[in-house]
Amino acid sequence: MAVERTFSIIKPDATRRNLTGKINARFEENGLRIVAQKRLWMSRQQAEQFYGVHKARPFFNDLCTFMTSGPVVVQVLEGENAVAKNREIMGATNPANAAAGTIRKDFAESIEANSVHGSDSPENAATEIAYFFAGTEIVG
Ligand code: PPS
Repeated sequence: MAVERTFSIIKPDATRRNLTGKINARFEENGLRIVAQKRLWMSRQQAEQFYGVHKARPFFNDLCTFMTSGPVVVQVLEGENAVAKNREIMGATNPANAAAGTIRKDFAESIEANSVHGSDSPENAATEIAYFFAGTEIVG
């Protein structure tokens, strides 16, 4: 299996509850390496652009408001099959449907405040990583 990279966000509900370390431990325990990481407060413009693919969805405005409601931690995770593996570690979007032992089952508050974002394909991972990181900031 190829080593690949995925993009991750620890969302405002999780930074507010000081869960960054606990969430990072889940990644590391499952074989993903944090090869880039920074804490920032997304601007409205950044959030709207990042989630642009969801612009027509009814929750778009709420999602952008939530993602700009506090600091986030943006990350690049590296490992074998990293995109799919991270989706597995995160669990389903709605914590009510997330499997036991996943980040969202254990930490998420709601479908909106669901603690983490992870890329859904290697192509989107590359785009999302480039949106937040310069190549020189990623140290594998
Ligand atoms: S899709 O079509 O599978 O990409 O959609 P989904 O993954 O379910 O959701 C995309 C992102 O929107 C967030 N979301 C919501 N936010 C607020 N309210 C509601 N009802 C809602 N439903 C979905 C969801 O957490 C996803 O955020 P990211 O950051 O991509 O995980």
